[in-house]
Amino acid sequence: MNIGIDKIGFYAPAYYLDMTKLAEARGVDANKYTIGLGQDKMAVPPITQDTITMGANAAIKILSKADLESIDLVILGTESGIDQSKAGATTIHHMLGINPRARAIEMKQACYGATAGIQLAKGHVALNPTKKALVIASDISRYGLNSGGEPTQGAGAVAILIAADPKILILENDTSYFTDDILDFWRPNYSDFAFVDGKYSNEQYQRFFEEVYTDYMEKTQRSLDDFAAFTFHIPYSKMGLKALRTIADEEDHATLFKNFKDSTYYNRSVGNIYAGSLYLSLVSLLEKGSLHAGDRIGLFSYGSGAVGEFFSGILQPDYKNALVADHDEMLQKRTALNIKEYEAMFNASLIKDGSHQILDTRNESSDFYLKEVKHHQRIYNK
Ligand code: CAA
Repeated sequence: MNIGIDKIGFYAPAYYLDMTKLAEARGVDANKYTIGLGQDKMAVPPITQDTITMGANAAIKILSKADLESIDLVILGTESGIDQSKAGATTIHHMLGINPRARAIEMKQACYGATAGIQLAKGHVALNPTKKALVIASDISRYGLNSGGEPTQGAGAVAILIAADPKILILENDTSYFTDDILDFWRPNYSDFAFVDGKYSNEQYQRFFEEVYTDYMEKTQRSLDDFAAFTFHIPYSKMGLKALRTIADEEDHATLFKNFKDSTYYNRSVGNIYAGSLYLSLVSLLEKGSLHAGDRIGLFSYGSGAVGEFFSGILQPDYKNALVADHDEMLQKRTALNIKEYEAMFNASLIKDGSHQILDTRNESSDFYLKEVKHHQRIYNK
């Protein structure tokens, strides 16, 4: 049975900071961010958007009424979830009006959580071929103002519908995964910001890529020529480029590098969305790249801490028609922030003492948003 991605779409908050403005404010040459890291804009979430609302906002774009009836598994992959106990997927399940005879869970392993969710969803559909699974990757990436990681922040969510006989991408069963207990990036329960050993995290990303890519190629007896494109977890677009350069030469494999550039289109304007970054890159490639039915795409997932996985998929004949059309429009409608507005939005926080906080939602135009916090509970608009 062929199982894979039937639908995919993403949501990004309605505000952004231009990287040249951030560079100017931090006294850094703008080329360091736009060329050195390969990022143009950074999505900034207002206090009315969290991992739950962003996830629901991404999912509502892709789901039909029939999908809501046939989904019986909802998985939220996140490392910036809002509760230590209750899975955000239970709230998203309710917001979207999904069939109550469903499982809803949250998965965590840094930026790898959604990939784990997809592999679990594949197994679920293999046992229940008429059912569908909704996997959502939703995260807010925060390192702190003036921190080394600040230019690699971002926010957003990707929603992926996993089904039998998928319209977009069959996920092949060939895969290679690798775990090692390291501390390259982590966020203790008491901290709102991630801690990171920047250089070490870059080295580990490359090490994990080499491990799983080599193992996959040995197991499958495939070579570079079997792939039309590679997509990577993109904390910043240069990181993926560096990984691609370890397996391909730019002169000999110009098409792979052109496809890679296309695969960073949305990431360059949204920033790091952790669990969703690989899949934002896949959406970029599908929408902006010039691929053909039958092409094989390689996917590298990396979650600090750390787990890496390399797997692959085959593009389906009608994949272009199955894509959501309004992503460019959504990004074009965003409001540009100046540095003061960005810092104010970054510093805004929800009350933690159980009292009643009513949020200003006058500028919210998303389908789902947070409107109040009361008795330690978040209250959403729907
Ligand atoms: N013009 C052009 N390029 C310039 C430049 C200029 N004026 N100034 C610097 N650069 C280049 C540098 O040469 C460098 O490029 P190379 O890596 O190709 O050599 C690039 O800009 C970045 O410069 P630095 O390495 O000096 O930057 P930095 O020390 O300030 O930190 C960072 C960069 C480590 C990525 C930091 O932003 C960070 O810690 N980010 C968060 C961690 C992260 O994203 N890690 C990625 C791997 S872990 C992962 O993937 C999981 C996850 O999502 C977090």
